[in-house]
Amino acid sequence: MVRNPEDVIETWMQNVSRRTFMKTTGVAATAAALGSGSSGATAYDGVDIESKLEELTVRQKAAQMTQVAISSFDPQASVPERFGVETLGEYFSKLELGSILSGGSKPPSFDAKEVVQGINALQEYNLNHSSSSIPFLWGVDAVHGNGLLADATVFPQRINMGSTRDVDLLEDAARHTADSTAAMGAHWTFAPTNELQRDPRWGRFFEGITEDPMLLGAITRARVRGLESNDRLCSTDKHFAGYSIPESGNDRGHAQTSMRDLRTNLLPPHRMALEEEPKTVMVNSGAINGKPAHVSSWLLTEVLREQYDFEGVVISDYNDFNRLIVNHDYTDSLRQGIKEGINAGVDMYMIGNGDASNGPVTFIETVADLVEKGEISTERIDEAVRRILELKAELGLFQTPTVEESRISDVLGGAKEQSEQLAKESMVLLKNENDALPLSGSNRVLLTGPGINPNTGLRNRFMMQHGGWTLGWQGVQGGYPTEGGPRPRQNTILETMNEAFGSVAHVPTSFVTAPFQNAEPHTDDVSPNGNFGFTDQQESKVKSEAARADAVVVVLGEGPHNEGFGDRDTFELAPPQRSLVEAVTKQAPDTPVVGVILAGSPQGTAQTFDMLDAVLFAGQPGSDTGRAVTDTLLGKYNPSGKLAFNWPASVGKVPNHYNQYPPLDDQGPLYEFGHGLSYTTFEYSNASVSPKSVLNPTDTPTVTVSVDVANTGEMAGDHIVEVYNTQSYGSVLQPKRRLIGFKRVSLDAGTSTTVEIEANLAAIEVVPGDVPGTKQKVVEAGAYELSVGDSITTTLTIENTGSVTKPRDRGSHED
Ligand code: BGC
Repeated sequence: MVRNPEDVIETWMQNVSRRTFMKTTGVAATAAALGSGSSGATAYDGVDIESKLEELTVRQKAAQMTQVAISSFDPQASVPERFGVETLGEYFSKLELGSILSGGSKPPSFDAKEVVQGINALQEYNLNHSSSSIPFLWGVDAVHGNGLLADATVFPQRINMGSTRDVDLLEDAARHTADSTAAMGAHWTFAPTNELQRDPRWGRFFEGITEDPMLLGAITRARVRGLESNDRLCSTDKHFAGYSIPESGNDRGHAQTSMRDLRTNLLPPHRMALEEEPKTVMVNSGAINGKPAHVSSWLLTEVLREQYDFEGVVISDYNDFNRLIVNHDYTDSLRQGIKEGINAGVDMYMIGNGDASNGPVTFIETVADLVEKGEISTERIDEAVRRILELKAELGLFQTPTVEESRISDVLGGAKEQSEQLAKESMVLLKNENDALPLSGSNRVLLTGPGINPNTGLRNRFMMQHGGWTLGWQGVQGGYPTEGGPRPRQNTILETMNEAFGSVAHVPTSFVTAPFQNAEPHTDDVSPNGNFGFTDQQESKVKSEAARADAVVVVLGEGPHNEGFGDRDTFELAPPQRSLVEAVTKQAPDTPVVGVILAGSPQGTAQTFDMLDAVLFAGQPGSDTGRAVTDTLLGKYNPSGKLAFNWPASVGKVPNHYNQYPPLDDQGPLYEFGHGLSYTTFEYSNASVSPKSVLNPTDTPTVTVSVDVANTGEMAGDHIVEVYNTQSYGSVLQPKRRLIGFKRVSLDAGTSTTVEIEANLAAIEVVPGDVPGTKQKVVEAGAYELSVGDSITTTLTIENTGSVTKPRDRGSHED
């Protein structure tokens, strides 16, 4: 039978993953697929990977496995002595390093043109000066937009993304990030973060999206799709896995968890994201159940490779073989750390800036020695390097190592519509007493607080609206506040309020960002993530303006922060902020006082919120903060965001995620997961589920919940309809509430619609059985109460126990 080539490809595609398909779509490979006899399954982008691999010495292979941070584009620039060479150019001419990182605090430039020219020139230098002539991979942290360049659009931070529940729009935003990052000349973004938000003490809480594993997985997989949509850019599912629950609340700490928790909550978002085939994975910098993730073969090989079928490159986190010594006290030998890490499954070592005993030369020599002595097999090194070379080929770097320099100006600062819409959708109205909001009838508004940002004189305080990973790791240029430094494309609350009202009275209170300053323990001077003040002069000015205002907006919160420097031991707003709220509310007891919280964590407790009439949690909305906040305050936008985490009543209540096992804390959180007010009212009726009864979840992994939703108020608005499983019994405890599906709808006042929500039963899978938690995950037979809102329920019956995610999610092979 003569087969049509398209049919052959069609059948073949059904049998290979997208990644494998991409790898083999080079000329030689396509020929091979069509049976023309070529052997080149790894020959693509003009390179035969196997031959290339054979040409390399062990040292050259180890160099391919090395990533260092740089802060200049000049090959003649000197580099720290510990790196073992004298100039930047020698990274390529002498060491032939495989990858470069410039995500950290001191990138070579924030100027788009300089960056694209710089990366291109350095790539050419590399290709002309290294004997192996292999293009390098340039990696960056474009984690909420391309926040690496001045004038770039920065999308709302991850803490905001969860509140939007807008999976499609987030995918679209990620697509723009991919285009902009690729046009800049980078090849790799260390995104999306895939951290289950459980502990707001943790300095990277703002990088989590939600404490719900299903919602996290749904958003992360969409972001992977978006970030992988540009052929010249690859994404990273990070950090694999269990990073977000350090028992101390401190970054890079040890996580005490159980196999059941890992497999029910922490791993599923990764499994979901990995189904979209991100090309790389970054390892959790912490440790789990007594084992640092970087040396866990169970995590990096058994789960990641064998159960989740991951085929791409595993990169370490920054300096993490060394952290096995200096952070985890796991070993006192770098050699031992490198050996265990590579054998466990790490393919590339992100040395970053290294330190005295940990530079690229040390790494390369150590790997060579380990291979020579048989402590790491040649096969293992070849496997790692093969993956790295394949990644370079998939990105087309061998054929086209540089990018067109004019393209970046077309994309820089774009996607304004998506950015503004996401920022608006992420606003969560926590409280609105006596209809303090919207401010539509107000004429004289006083704007005050540390988040007010006049154009001059107040250095980088605008960073409160962006958070970390914006023009620097700690969120400020080079880590330090500068008056004339670069800015993202942005509108501020002061600008947009002035536009809306003609002009508003404003009294900024003191705030200086606190990069590299640990917030613990906090004092009156050093508060969580920023140094705040409220001077006598500011107080008298605020009081006199408040007395004349018919509404007051106080913009409170915390400054940009990151990682260990952002860890906090309180959720109380800094004392000067509390004094400000007290002064305003005492001075103008009959005037509505609205708090806007710009923060990457639940900043604020009842102590302050009780004094305020309304509270809008704005999070860190990025470029379009001004538009989003102002339109929401004025009612031009009807708030629709829902909290994606429980807002704890106090730090003593942590952890208090909404899907904890019963019994729950009597006091409850200050605001619950899913909370978020609107200026209109929505009512539900007629919930049903189809099918009502599932014979076996393996055969019927999804059900559809249908419910009527009516906008019974007087304003049009968006509403996120959520379906929870609220009651069920089985062989193990089950949370009192578990999100199984959601949909965002828009409804005009007085209209209604029937909403159909597809729910994947993986969300109600449990790890059955006794304490060890190693059995196959299943949906257990029984009756499952499904709820929409507080009182509308329907029942789903599962007739027979069965697995949805089988065979990808197992505790161990012995099961
Ligand atoms: C962070 C990673 C990041 C890397 C590179 C590390 O400190 O943990 O998330 O990708 O730095 O900037």
